[in-house]
Amino acid sequence: MTGTELTSGTEWWRTAVIYQIYPRSFADANGDGMGDLSGISARLPHLKELGIDAIWLSPFYTSPQRDAGYDVADYCNVDPLFGTLDDFEVLQQTAHDLDIRVIVDIVPNHSSSDHGWFQAALASGPGSEERARYTFRDGRGENGELPPNNWESVFGGRAWTRTTNADGTPGQWYLHLFDSSQPDFDWESEWVREQFRAVLRFWLDRGVDGFRVDVAHGMIKAPGLPDYTPPADGGSMGGTPASALEPGISAEAPATPPYWAQEGVHEIYRDWHNVLAEYAGDRVLAAEAWVDPLSEMAKWVRADEMHQAFNFAYLETPWNGPLLRRVIDDSLEAFGNVGAPSTWVLSNHDVVRHASRLALTGDNLQGHGIGPKTADLPDTVIGLRRARAATALMLSLPGSSYLYQGEELGLPEAVDLPDHAREDPTWFRTSGERYGRDGCRVPIPWEAASESFGFSSGGTSWLPQPADWSALARDQQEGVPGSTLELYKLALRLRREHSLASGTVEWLDDSNSEVVEYRNGNVIIVANTGATSIELPAGEVLLVSESLTGRMLHGDATAWLRA
Ligand code: GLC
Repeated sequence: MTGTELTSGTEWWRTAVIYQIYPRSFADANGDGMGDLSGISARLPHLKELGIDAIWLSPFYTSPQRDAGYDVADYCNVDPLFGTLDDFEVLQQTAHDLDIRVIVDIVPNHSSSDHGWFQAALASGPGSEERARYTFRDGRGENGELPPNNWESVFGGRAWTRTTNADGTPGQWYLHLFDSSQPDFDWESEWVREQFRAVLRFWLDRGVDGFRVDVAHGMIKAPGLPDYTPPADGGSMGGTPASALEPGISAEAPATPPYWAQEGVHEIYRDWHNVLAEYAGDRVLAAEAWVDPLSEMAKWVRADEMHQAFNFAYLETPWNGPLLRRVIDDSLEAFGNVGAPSTWVLSNHDVVRHASRLALTGDNLQGHGIGPKTADLPDTVIGLRRARAATALMLSLPGSSYLYQGEELGLPEAVDLPDHAREDPTWFRTSGERYGRDGCRVPIPWEAASESFGFSSGGTSWLPQPADWSALARDQQEGVPGSTLELYKLALRLRREHSLASGTVEWLDDSNSEVVEYRNGNVIIVANTGATSIELPAGEVLLVSESLTGRMLHGDATAWLRA
């Protein structure tokens, strides 16, 4: 039996459940088929009822939308697609009145190529101050016709695009770790640093409670930009190579790619920490840093850096008892060692929804997605069972948890999207070889009987919604005992009542078992990842992810009991 203490602290984010809103797909008030800020404001009371503490909004800033808004053309304004700055004020006020905090996304690794700063860099030419703000280089080869190095874009294809000079001749190349419309900044530039401090202050002055920091492991590149070939089974964002997740196969720590997890990024976050500290109210910085192992990721949340980091090691852990136990221990230890809470997350807008992912049988690297031609498509019944059980385990754990819109409805990945509807740059940059992330971004269903299931006042939706999502619409689950929505509500209520988020993990099981069993304060949690039913220990049953037969907990199910 081991107990792991969570380092104490009173800031709200240590124990918060933070719900990710993907503005394009949450609710559309103006009827154009694309979600917007007014749509979010109108639907916020539902999130209050769900029982979350904060929302994180994916980008709603001015953007040509070539990467769904993660290509920002103005960091301090709202894209007309989503509304206006006034609409943001209303949203934030509505949330705060409901006692819901608001975290916004900040995208500092790259801007949109439409951003005035990049346009000025192109216009100013090699050697200019404007170019020094981005990562321009001369090409290799006799006439600079070869890219400066061999780096590949996360979305497929090369990470460099050649520019054309004013006189029409081929010019320098610029780096884009993502789409060619997302040029990477050069964070060695003090000018860039000053601009981003100003962006932080712009939103902090408006009252946001914090930032989710996009690609927080990517801003600094190794000097000289050396060539690098990533391992074939590694996630393109730099996360866990697939082999590391297989029991019994010890993956060697991969060499750090010259564009991820460079030491220099930490100085930037120490600086940002100080900017946030000027403001009252425990504002939070949450890192999207795909770094391995967890002890390395924990560097992003040392006491003078960010406050939270998404626990992607947990997200990537299969539904397997010994592996779950190990990642929970490792997380509590790694984050606990630096005084940060662990976070837990199962879904977001970049990964296959966990109601599908947990039933995948083949390899599926992060970002590749699934679609009609994927071999071994997941069994949706098993997927949903496991997702409900996995969520019930996650929401019992000490620390902060992230939810992604629609998971509380048990939404699976939308597999049958027609090719012409797809928008993810991954799909285009790999000529359809990788489906990408559209399948987890489909607008969510609110009312079964309305057009677009109540998503849009105009009855349309920018990605088509599967017809069978009518059964998963919120109004079909509201108040229905045993529905996924009611399971989430119950788990969130009990989590609060029993102070699970500030508790501890005391293992009660044998570490090789398919059954994960632990005690958190006065609650015992039993998650059966195997196929065989097991008898529950004594104690009043508080929550079950699947109905019991007598005291028997079936496979792929989780129960909470009063100790
Ligand atoms: C992050 C975002 C992802 C985006 C990428 C580039 O990983 O979560 O959606 O495509 O950064 O900004």
